[in-house]
Amino acid sequence: MTTPCPESGSTAFHRGHPGAVGAGEVWCEGVRLTELVDRFGTPLYVYSGAAIDDRAARLRAAFGEDAVICYAVKANSNLSLLRRLAAQGLGFDLVSGGEIERLAAANLSAAQGVFAGVGKEPWEIEAAVAAGILFFNVESEHELPLLAAAARATGRTIPVALRLNPNVAAGTHAYITTGKSENKFGIALARAAEVVRAIVDEPGLELRGYHVHLGSQLRSVQPYVDALDRVAAFADADPRHRDGVTHYDLGGGFGISYGEGLELDVAAVAEQLLPRLEDRGWTPVLEPGRYLVGDAGVLVTRVLGGKQQGGTEFVLVDAAMNDLLRPALYQADHPIAPVAPARAGPSRRVDVVGPVCETGDFLARGRELPPLAAGDLLAVFGAGAYGASMASNYNSRRRPAEVLVDGGTARLIRRRESFTQLFQNEVDLDED
Ligand SMILES: Cc1ncc(COP(=O)(O)O)c(C=O)c1O
Repeated sequence: MTTPCPESGSTAFHRGHPGAVGAGEVWCEGVRLTELVDRFGTPLYVYSGAAIDDRAARLRAAFGEDAVICYAVKANSNLSLLRRLAAQGLGFDLVSGGEIERLAAANLSAAQGVFAGVGKEPWEIEAAVAAGILFFNVESEHELPLLAAAARATGRTIPVALRLNPNVAAGTHAYITTGKSENKFGIALARAAEVVRAIVDEPGLELRGYHVHLGSQLRSVQPYVDALDRVAAFADADPRHRDGVTHYDLGGGFGISYGEGLELDVAAVAEQLLPRLEDRGWTPVLEPGRYLVGDAGVLVTRVLGGKQQGGTEFVLVDAAMNDLLRPALYQADHPIAPVAPARAGPSRRVDVVGPVCETGDFLARGRELPPLAAGDLLAVFGAGAYGASMASNYNSRRRPAEVLVDGGTARLIRRRESFTQLFQNEVDLDED
């Protein structure tokens, strides 16, 4: 018997049963986090395979067998996780030539993949054509001649979906809102007719669908409905806008439970959108990232010490903004809890900060936590998405190791970087 961690959006993270080994400690499936730290050190990303499978199954159940579910690789591009998601029948939402290379390295097909990105380079377009993607999401008009050239060079017709900017508010952080007219993404509805005409007039291109992506961490259904209504109105305005259209890519952005508010009810999104899409004969395409892997991961960090200054109590830990950028970049509120049972004593309001030389280097601010001492481990929940994939070497720090747990088995899926790797591409001008 175990108790799910209330801080986690997944029951894969739980506290051990009283009286047994690991009592009161955080476990990932059948493995104690303390045991993983003994083996792999900190900071450490730990992912639950079961949690990832569960989210993939929930999306499939909601959207049905025909839906094309493309995992947004940027959320966490670890090759082992890509393989895991492919094994669940998922395709991929790709945004760079590097991500196409990753698929190839993992020996995965791009046939159920879409290629988006606001500034695609010719070599990336060629790579995506060669990989045989389902369609390109065209975001900027300058891509059209590049796509036409690739069509001529390869003798293939290139399938495209037009990314429309429906000017729908996503109700999310300004840095992760993408479907408003002031954002750089997509083509404004006012210009879309002209771009559709250019696509239809280009013999090497085939208009297959429309794409929208409103932002990340959406918690309500309505923006998805509003976006589809606007795209449908555009398609209905002229037969050329809908001839040959077979797919509607509703983007990703499905919110999970961290911060304020509940996770998005994906079944409710499907319930609203599927009948509308079926009426039009449009196959749904989804691009979830965070929903699939966010709650499946924790970042484990060790307390280095404490400090009181200017009325603030700081808890200094060994993970920093280079390991998990989201709190600094988006003011993201990741739940944090001690891995061991809480120490006795009143909880205190603290700032959990890393060793990087930036005031913005924090994992949490003003967070109520039980008493902590140097050496204690903390679990930062909801860290599976945009954690490891956004990690950097700032302050010459090595990026963390990553571990995938399956039941009682834990496997290292990324080694901690070595110091030699940090500067291996640098050219020492003093060396002959
Ligand atoms: C075009 C596109 N699709 C999908 C996603 C995935 O978003 P999320 O991880 O919030 O589901 C993103 C995120 O930036 C995106 O830009």
